[in-house]
Amino acid sequence: MQGSARHIAVFGAGYIGLVTAACFASLGHHVTVRDIQPERIRLLQAGDVPIYEPGLGELLADNKELLTYTLDAGEAVRDAQIAYICVDTPPTASGDADLSRVWSVIESLRQAPHLAAVVVKSTVPVGTGARIRTALDQAGLHHVGYASNPEFTAEGRAVTDFFHPDRIVIGTDEAATARLLTALHNGIDGPVQAMDVASAEMVKLASNALLATKITFINEIATVCEATGADVTRVADAVGLDHRLGRHFLNAGLGYGGSCFPKDSRALRAMASNSGYSFQLLNAVIEVNDLQPRRAVQRLKTELGTLRDKRIALLGMTFKAGTDDMREAPSTVLASRLLAEGAALTCWDPMARPADTQPWNQAERRSTVTAALTDADAAIVVTEWPQLHDTEWAEARPLMRTPVLFDGRNLLDPEAMADAGYTLLSVGRATARPPR
Ligand code: UGA
Repeated sequence: MQGSARHIAVFGAGYIGLVTAACFASLGHHVTVRDIQPERIRLLQAGDVPIYEPGLGELLADNKELLTYTLDAGEAVRDAQIAYICVDTPPTASGDADLSRVWSVIESLRQAPHLAAVVVKSTVPVGTGARIRTALDQAGLHHVGYASNPEFTAEGRAVTDFFHPDRIVIGTDEAATARLLTALHNGIDGPVQAMDVASAEMVKLASNALLATKITFINEIATVCEATGADVTRVADAVGLDHRLGRHFLNAGLGYGGSCFPKDSRALRAMASNSGYSFQLLNAVIEVNDLQPRRAVQRLKTELGTLRDKRIALLGMTFKAGTDDMREAPSTVLASRLLAEGAALTCWDPMARPADTQPWNQAERRSTVTAALTDADAAIVVTEWPQLHDTEWAEARPLMRTPVLFDGRNLLDPEAMADAGYTLLSVGRATARPPR
């Protein structure tokens, strides 16, 4: 690697930035990570990892000689030949993506004497690259190439995805930049798709919107299954065997959450609306997804008669298993709705770090699944943590005031749960009840 080792600056020490930094360092490159949060940089400098992502800690530790962390943008770009922008692009009040963090990075690139290319990994609206190109030119950085290199990795498997991606999209309008970045990805096991900047930006938004649509589609089918007596997991298994459709992202549940699908679908809708087009299909996807956790609360209310003064246990809080991320987690909507209905909340999660604000400051956190079930009138399976598979449900049943479960992930076997004495509601499957 020595000959082709590069100096890379990574802006943003979040899930994407840190994984990108750690993985490039493991390929032998010198990487300087810059973040604006002092605590985050302090932790990284001390050898701690501020987020949970499998394999990341080991990779950062194994390659620590090649990694530097700083708050100073000037230091980050001093030796950099390639600058990766991995800052977050949260939605503005109008639903557009807030690019202010991206612009402040571009500002700092004036201090980068060796810079050959700027690469944006953050998800941005189509047309952002063209605006960045103009900004670079206006800053006298004509010689610096520009590329969009969207990230397709999923949290919880980001390190694996980096080394074995389905595809590497390199969007640039400059041949030299395409060559530079293609070479940088040597040794990574995935096909490079080279294209123009605008198309690369669109690939990211279209991919996430299609995945969100797939989840929403199966959630809609689940609702129809509930009304007609079909079982959505059987339907999804058989539908998914059609190789044109595939089984992935056909798990019905409480709706998609996380830092990407909700934000990116709204950003694509805003982008379409801004050009005068109403993206009807995406409007419906967003609306159905917003309804999904509310429907669960309504069904539980019907089952229990009322939620007032009932103790409900939330089993899992993060938006999916394998992460500590609570962003746009359906659990937060569930918790708020349950409190609004007058319920008391108990919660359990092995990784979640919720903010000490509404609704979580009103929930009693317990350290095990069985502790969370104790004295509960009902429990909702929110996140597909393996601990829920491993729970001795029959033994836990007497701990509950009433053995009612809402399986928001279709994780538990209805027949076995009914035999263990539970009433099991789930998404798109018949409610299972204990034998009389
Ligand atoms: C998602 C995409 O999968 C990545 O390809 C993309 O790079 C990333 O967003 C991003 O834009 O950065 P992530 O948000 O980490 O990754 O999580 P996913 O595993 O995709 O799950 C998203 C949500 O959909 C979760 O709430 C999950 O529980 C839900 N989901 C997923 C379902 O409800 N059903 C399914 O069948 C699959």
